[in-house]
This record gives sequence, C-alpha cells and structure tokens, in this order.
Amino acid sequence: MASEIIGKIKVDDYDLEKDIKYLNSVTKQPEEYDEFGQGYWKNLSLYNASGNASDTQYRNTDKCFPTEYATQCPSIQKLVQQNFKPDNLKMIRARSLVDGLVIPHRDFVELDEKITYFRVFLALENNKDAFHSDEHGVFQMKAGEVWFLDAGISHAAVNFGLNSRMFLCLDFMYEGEFEYTDIFTDQSVLEECRRSFYVSREIFTSSQKEAVISGASKILDRFTFKDVVFALSKYHFIYDIPVSSCYDWIISAAEQKNNIEIVKKAKSLRRYLIEKRDMGERYSINDWNI
Ligand SMILES: [Fe+2]
Repeated sequence: MASEIIGKIKVDDYDLEKDIKYLNSVTKQPEEYDEFGQGYWKNLSLYNASGNASDTQYRNTDKCFPTEYATQCPSIQKLVQQNFKPDNLKMIRARSLVDGLVIPHRDFVELDEKITYFRVFLALENNKDAFHSDEHGVFQMKAGEVWFLDAGISHAAVNFGLNSRMFLCLDFMYEGEFEYTDIFTDQSVLEECRRSFYVSREIFTSSQKEAVISGASKILDRFTFKDVVFALSKYHFIYDIPVSSCYDWIISAAEQKNNIEIVKKAKSLRRYLIEKRDMGERYSINDWNI
C-alpha cells in the first residue's frame, strides 16, 4: 500500500537540536546493507532488546531498553515517552542520510504469521533536499510527521544536500488486529496531518529515456556498473517515472551493448532488490563470480 502520514507530533515542544547534533557526531558503524546506499547513511540503535547500542539485531521480544546513545538524548527520550505507547514498541533507531542515496528496493520481512510488524518514521527536522519515494510517488517528510512506509513495495530515499536529515525509525509488533493510532499515547495526533504530499515531477519523454539508455550503454561495464546503478536511481526523484525504472534501463543498456555478463548481473540485482530473495541471501553488487 502507499505510504501515508499517520500522525503529527509537536516536535517544536522539544529541544531536539542538541540531541541531533550529538547523534550526528557519533561515528557510523558498518551496516549489513551499506552497499545499497551511497553517501553518509547511518543507523543508530536508541532503544532495543538488550539496551546495548551495538546490538542491531531485530527480534520479537518484550524488552525495549534505552541504549547509551539514547541516554545522551534526553529530549528524544522525553518525546518518545510522551507520544508513543511502550506496550508494543520493540526498537527505535536514529537514521541519518546526508549527501546520499538508498537505491530502490523492497524489504522482505519474515516473521511469525500471527504477528504484524509495523514500522513508522518520525522526521525530527526539515530538509528541503531530502526525498522519499515509493511505487505511488515522491514525497518529503516534514518535522513532526509520523509516516507509515510500506517496506513491502519498492521504495528509495535521497538527500541531495549536505545538511542533516535525522529521523527516528520505530518498530512495533502486534498480535491480531490493531489501528495505526494505537501506537500513540494521544489519539488526536491525526488532526493536523497533510492529506496530499506528492511532489510534482518533470515529464520524461520516451526520447529522453532512449537517450539515457543509449548513453548508459556507452559507459556501462564491470567497472562502472555500480556507479551507473546509483546515477540512474536518481532520475525518478526528479522525473515522473516509476521508482524502479533504473533496473529496467540498465538491463536495456546492457542488451544494447550485447554484454551478456552485465545483462545477467543487472537482472540478478533487480531480482534481489525488488523481486524476490531467499531468507538470509546475501548479494554484492561488485561480486562478479556469477
Ligand atoms: Fe527499506
């Protein structure tokens, strides 16, 4: 389903600047899916099952403790306590993306059938250069907005600028029926939400598309493959084309060049990121032992 705003929190009531500055100063740790991002992409564990900041494992648990990062962020802790019910909350991470991109992908979450896994994002600050996208369009998350993003459909994120873009990512789990607003302590959070939020994008003609594919075909090889993936991934934020067009274009570009190795690689990348992957399957863009 399409992404939507499910609540709005008055973030101006909290002195978040100091906390954001602290989170921006924490050194980034290597992440499992780092290679699908470009630029500065950071995830910091603020609340989790063990209370240990280096524990990034998501699991079904009754415990959700603040980590040493959270203890340095008193305003964020206050915001969380005052606005979100702790009952079904499992994990909170701070997420930053600066001068970077996360390429289009789907997240495949496999949990017990009886359990609904529910993830929301809360933008802690505004950033005019940062965008998100899914199969329905491109949008910006404004400070205080709580968004549901369906990770099961193709989605991507970008920050074209150098300024901080700090979000909280909150993971909840429910057994049986629940309403989106069950996560909030105050159910009136929905009142001030924007109902329309897609940004308008430029028209992209079929001749422009052909020109990009043929241009990509000229420079596409083993050594530029990853760079071309990142470059073409950016087009959908500006032009009105589907979020995962880049993968089809790269396949077409490789076919134009008659480069079987790149065709095979591009198809396997598309399969892994947006079609289907096996549980625990790992993939490396620049692994050419295919
Ligand atoms: Fe994702």
